[in-house]
Amino acid sequence: MSLNTAAAPTHAEPDAAAIAAADPDSSDVTSTATNAHGYHNFALGEFSFSRDEYFAYVIWPTGQHVMSVDAFLRAIQRDVAWDFFYGIVNFDGVFGTMNHYGTVDLFAGRYNDAYRKAELDHMENVETPIIRDTFTAIIKDWTNEGFDPFASPAETGSAFGPKSGNNDAAVTRQRVTAARMVGLPGDEQPRSDGSGFPVNRHFVDVSQEEPQVNPEPGYEDRVAGFSLKAYLSRSDVTWNPSVVSVCRDSLMCPTTEEYILPIIHGNDRSEWFIQLSDEITWEVEDRDTGRKRATVVAKAGDVAAMPADIRHQGYSPKRSMLLVWENNSGEIPELINSGQVKPQPVDFE
Ligand code: PHB
Ligand code: FE
Repeated sequence: MSLNTAAAPTHAEPDAAAIAAADPDSSDVTSTATNAHGYHNFALGEFSFSRDEYFAYVIWPTGQHVMSVDAFLRAIQRDVAWDFFYGIVNFDGVFGTMNHYGTVDLFAGRYNDAYRKAELDHMENVETPIIRDTFTAIIKDWTNEGFDPFASPAETGSAFGPKSGNNDAAVTRQRVTAARMVGLPGDEQPRSDGSGFPVNRHFVDVSQEEPQVNPEPGYEDRVAGFSLKAYLSRSDVTWNPSVVSVCRDSLMCPTTEEYILPIIHGNDRSEWFIQLSDEITWEVEDRDTGRKRATVVAKAGDVAAMPADIRHQGYSPKRSMLLVWENNSGEIPELINSGQVKPQPVDFE
């Protein structure tokens, strides 16, 4: 049996240039004039999107859906910034996207047993650049001045009300992705007050001491070290894994978490979670039906493998540090779908 060795493009080498070049004014974005609340309505295929002071509305030929607009903006922010991520980004139990790395499924009720049985579900496959431009246009238009969808609710303003300014600086923020490792010459660097990243209010007890590194002459380009906890204590965003080290397909993606993961992530590969501080409760459901599978309470020091056939959402009662370990190989979804690799990375017997 031969494996396809030409790896498909995968999320975690997101095309940063393509994300930066997403064009909300592109002719592939369909929008109407502003509504009574000052916001544009948008359409993509047979889906249409609108917002008022409190809610986002999604309409498709067989149904409609309403979400609190703060939750909608937090979810669409992740979808845009992560270029549709690995597998499925459920905005909630009904609406979301599935990444096929070049095209994206836009769906409603597709991974919801009740919607499927009632035949209310709908799905359309769209070219990635078109949904990227459309979602970028939506988040720019629907985000008011003072609301940052990446910030914890305690550290940002309100998403509600009539159209009032914008927060383009926040919503077009690029995810931190080291090429090799934070701290190496020419790569992402540790954070400091000076670079605009003060220590977060929940991490004032975290040591800011950095390791002393003395590479032998000739190895300065290859040897570096940094304090991961000090680095994370200065993160200004929540639920936004950054890539701090890369070893072939092995990506270390730590993140700081507070309140609720704004998406329910449907995996297309397994992921390892190492809880570095504090505590997160994970609600784990069957990926395709939404049926409950487990509640996982991860305390500092706990390690969990999240299988490829689940979806999960985390709840972090105070800011916590989580290390997500991803295998970025583009071959994995097919190896799992074809049954060559099990959905779980380890069996405890
Ligand atoms: C995940 O879906 O695995 C995930 C996403 C964002 C995070 C943490 C975990 O911040
Ligand atoms: Fe996940």
